[in-house]
Amino acid sequence: MRRVMIAGNWKMNKDIKESTVFLEEYCKRIVSDKSLKYDLDTRTEVILFPSTFSIYPMSCYKQDIGSKISLGVQNVHWMDSGPLTGEVSTLMALHAGASYALVGHSERRHVFGENDLIVKAKFEACSKTGLKPFLCVGETENERNMDLTGSVLEKQVSAAISDTVSCIGEDHLIIAYEPVWAIGTGNSASSKDAQKACSHIRSVVRDIKGLPASEMAHVLYGGSVNLSNSHEFLLEKDIDGLLVGGASLDPVIFAGIVKNTVLTRKEVQGNDM
Ligand code: PGA
Repeated sequence: MRRVMIAGNWKMNKDIKESTVFLEEYCKRIVSDKSLKYDLDTRTEVILFPSTFSIYPMSCYKQDIGSKISLGVQNVHWMDSGPLTGEVSTLMALHAGASYALVGHSERRHVFGENDLIVKAKFEACSKTGLKPFLCVGETENERNMDLTGSVLEKQVSAAISDTVSCIGEDHLIIAYEPVWAIGTGNSASSKDAQKACSHIRSVVRDIKGLPASEMAHVLYGGSVNLSNSHEFLLEKDIDGLLVGGASLDPVIFAGIVKNTVLTRKEVQGNDM
């Protein structure tokens, strides 16, 4: 059974102090609720992508307070070191306490001009060093209107995962479907459309990597997820979690989304405690 992943992408928000205060507030709400413990220990993983500066202090702080939350970096370069002013490497992120990295987020593709070749280089660099990549894919509004969603997803997924040398195993394939038109707009995809896209992504993975890898892959939805709509995505069979932007900045709301996730999981799979 695939575990559920709930990830918060903070983008360029929260300094070090604000990040640790968030962690404290979030943990207070989660730890005090004993009914969440079994799920959070065994089958639901919560991951935060703070600013690069906050990864190390958050990693130390979470150990101090005994939090199980995982951390990720929002961006990495594919080289290990060198004259690349402003960049950070996958090993730097790992050593600071990150276990995951966002790769191919729509803001990197569309604001910073990252193409499929760059996304592949980053995806591969992460996979080689053991930093687990969250590959983000999704169509623009124009592409959606032209009925190109399926082919855009095929192109973006296959460009990143075909012929990739990986040391982290196929069971760590994580792909977030994030339609560009849904990010930061308050206009999320319907759960049915998100399910259709996520199922298509899984079939693309099956064609490239085979059936076992496609069944183990984690396919997430992201784009204007909030406290009231998070539940419906998690009822869909090919959606294994959520990548949350704006709604992850508030510890009360994010804790609410995590609680909803655990409840939904129990509803779908039963409470086998
Ligand atoms: P949003 O962002 O939830 O604010 O739409 C999602 C993302 O960019 O990952």
